[in-house]
Amino acid sequence: MRNLSSRELRQLYLDFFRSKGHAVIPSASLIPENDPTVLFTTAGMHPLVPYLMGQKHPAGTRLTDVQKCVRTGDIDEVGDTSHCTFFEMLGNWSLGDYFKKESIAWSWEFLTDEKWLGIPKEKLSFTCFEGDADAPRDTVSHDRWVEMGADPSHIVYLPKKNNWWGPAGLTGPCGPDTEIFYDTGRPACGPDCKAGCDCGKYLEIWNNVFMEYNKVGEGKFEPLAQKNVDTGMGLDRTIATLQGVESVFDTDAFSGIIELIGKLSHHSYKESDATVKAFRIIADHIRCATFILGDQRGVTPSNVDQGYILRRLIRRSIRYAMQLNIPRYGIVEIASAVIDQYGDIYPELEENREKVLSELKREENRFADTLKKGIKEFNKTAANAQDGKIDGISAFHLYDTYGFPIELTMELAQEKGITVDVDGFHAAFAEHQKKSQAGATQRFKSGLADHQEATTALHSATHLLHKALRVVLNDDTISQKGSNITAERLRFDFSFPRKLTPEELKAVEDLVNEQIGRHMPITCEEMTVAEAKAQGAIGLFESKYGERVKVYTMGDFSKEICGGPHAQNTGDLGHFVIKKEEASSSGVRRIKAILEK
Ligand code: ALA
Repeated sequence: MRNLSSRELRQLYLDFFRSKGHAVIPSASLIPENDPTVLFTTAGMHPLVPYLMGQKHPAGTRLTDVQKCVRTGDIDEVGDTSHCTFFEMLGNWSLGDYFKKESIAWSWEFLTDEKWLGIPKEKLSFTCFEGDADAPRDTVSHDRWVEMGADPSHIVYLPKKNNWWGPAGLTGPCGPDTEIFYDTGRPACGPDCKAGCDCGKYLEIWNNVFMEYNKVGEGKFEPLAQKNVDTGMGLDRTIATLQGVESVFDTDAFSGIIELIGKLSHHSYKESDATVKAFRIIADHIRCATFILGDQRGVTPSNVDQGYILRRLIRRSIRYAMQLNIPRYGIVEIASAVIDQYGDIYPELEENREKVLSELKREENRFADTLKKGIKEFNKTAANAQDGKIDGISAFHLYDTYGFPIELTMELAQEKGITVDVDGFHAAFAEHQKKSQAGATQRFKSGLADHQEATTALHSATHLLHKALRVVLNDDTISQKGSNITAERLRFDFSFPRKLTPEELKAVEDLVNEQIGRHMPITCEEMTVAEAKAQGAIGLFESKYGERVKVYTMGDFSKEICGGPHAQNTGDLGHFVIKKEEASSSGVRRIKAILEK
């Protein structure tokens, strides 16, 4: 078996599939485009969904790539041996081209041939879909593995729970898969220990999905117009498995970063269980944060959506860095090392180097301030905790006043052997939101009493402005940071890292006026937050309680969660003019605009 570095495996994989007629395509952004159902790209298939559904891909019907992925469902598992928040997924794709026969033959060749990975075939095991009411047993895949030379006793049939793959959302392309496992040689956990057993003997290295169905609802599947293949192999994890090392953090992908953490902290990685955990969390989180900040559609830390996950990653790593006595801005140095390592493969990292490093620095400064005060407050709160439990209101206070994410409070509490009333925290959060919304409505109403028509028109213009900013600046992560409307003018604060150019302001103004000129109806519908999200509405998605929200739609241009009220037609608004654009606070811009009759 060949001993490869992660750099070599990445190259070898692409070379192999290129030799089988596949076009190499670049990784798509980590921030999904036009898909509000997930915050990040979680698998290679994600950006390719339209093509799996039948749209023509410009590069053809056979594709191969290394896709950047983020899965934050695993965030609390980071620190064990195999979980990473960021990972690279190697994939090969058939878009209505080849199917099971070729897919399995090529996987076999790549894995076992001396020219490629050269894994002895006895080390490999396979799982196939056992069949149910929705789709038949996948004997085709089973028989093909045997034909290639697999030992039939190494092939297991498993149900949908194990051998079926579909997208994160409720609907979309999906199908049975066949998964490939590597036998670590550890003793079996029992007589039934086979591929698919999660005792650690068999490690999954590759998943070939045969996407021939479209999931149209819960338990409802229709055949797709074309049969596709979607495969995924986790780069670092496969290298760790093949090298027989304990974790991905012991591979070349992380060795430079781990070494740097050692230098900065004057600790050694394997000094104790605590240092192992801290080194891994810092390495993983800073790598992930660097990729999110440095993405082609990168976001910056904030309190919502992707920005919130990013903030959580950065702040969690800073906490562990402090535990190791890594000096201030140590994480910035680590991010710089991540860019050095990956910059030639992902040029966007190199292009955004300045932004990545300055945003990290800024977030570290912000966090240092709140942390100092917050830890003091936390210790007080913990000392007063009744029955070993921090109540929800205190946890919310830590969040609201000191910027402590609930997860941080939970971790600190765990270290002290106490718990947190998480439900109580969410209830306090909801209560707070209700109050601030009521406050906003109150303020708004008093304005309305005098100048109803003028203010509602400006309010509707604010929605058009919000959308126009996203379109013109080509940044769907722009979000509202504040809004203040009088009868005379609107004032809109939004997340954006720099000053807008006069050309951009003009384009925004023109686009708003164009939408006004289209005389589009403005309609309102009530729905749950999840439904609003699924329809692509923008606005604050913080509420998690299933209550209904109002969604205002302006033709095909804007859809936004909002309490209203609004004008009835964009044609009623008048002529939109931007009066001023300026900084509001760090990472937030402010626009003042008026409507002329
Ligand atoms: N889409 C499949 C996966 O992520 C290949 O496992």
